[in-house]
Amino acid sequence: MENLKGKNALVTGGGRGLGKATALAFAKEGINVAITGRNEQLLKETISELRALGVQATYAVFDVANFDAVTTAIAKLNTDFGTFDILVNNAGVAAFGSVLDMDPKTWKDIIETNLLGTYYVTKAILPQLIEKNEGDIINVSSTAGLNGAGTTSAYSASKFGVIGFSDSLMREVRKNNIRVCTLMPSTIASDMSKELKLTDGNPETVLQPEDFAELIVANLKLPRRAMLKSASLWSTNP
Ligand SMILES: NC(=O)c1ccc[n+]([C@@H]2O[C@H](COP(=O)([O-])OP(=O)(O)OC[C@H]3O[C@@H](n4cnc5c(N)ncnc54)[C@H](OP(=O)(O)O)[C@@H]3O)[C@@H](O)[C@H]2O)c1
Repeated sequence: MENLKGKNALVTGGGRGLGKATALAFAKEGINVAITGRNEQLLKETISELRALGVQATYAVFDVANFDAVTTAIAKLNTDFGTFDILVNNAGVAAFGSVLDMDPKTWKDIIETNLLGTYYVTKAILPQLIEKNEGDIINVSSTAGLNGAGTTSAYSASKFGVIGFSDSLMREVRKNNIRVCTLMPSTIASDMSKELKLTDGNPETVLQPEDFAELIVANLKLPRRAMLKSASLWSTNP
């Protein structure tokens, strides 16, 4: 079993939802966490909760869809906080509508945040993982990345893209002892899914953010060698 204590993780979109639950689960394992997002207030609130768990925690405010902002912020985090061992590309947005109804700007924003954001943050972090010859990258796709639906063209295109990116990356960096895992959750009772009215959040019937975070931690504890050789794709869909 992998020992996670003392490692440094970066969780994008860590101020709320699945990212916040993941950051808190990491802190409970003794992992130091940097969280990112655009809403500074939410990040600050989460930082207090992380520090109360006894780990080092910091945040950076940037838009994952802006490559210059990503590289600048990560360079500063590296100076102030240290280099990273674990990256969770979780930041994402969702909006639904038909191809005819959705305006091109919304469609583009979804692709730029979910797909290009994942690529930009990975590109900024990857050199330090290669330098260490060890690391974990966890990319959050969706069941919408496996199947389309009548109103999900932008979201599904972005999440299909994340799977393609992630599967290719896994093959690229396996030789560097870097595990790449792609997650394809079905509906989880996060802030996003409640706002979009995808679920009422009933813990009896729908996965909770803490359950998702528990799966990520369990995945990180799996023996490294076995995971490097496997396809590393899994879904929380029943
Ligand atoms: N909840 C589900 O049922 C479900 C199912 C499958 C997949 N997913 C995926 O899981 C991930 C997390 O979703 P969630 O449900 O936790 O959503 P959420 O509650 O809306 O949280 C999304 C996070 O991403 C950040 N974010 C969004 N756009 C950003 C940008 N351009 N730059 C930087 N940060 C940005 C948000 O922070 P700021 O607003 O502060 O920027 C927020 O912290 C997403 O990739 C989503 O597609 C969710």
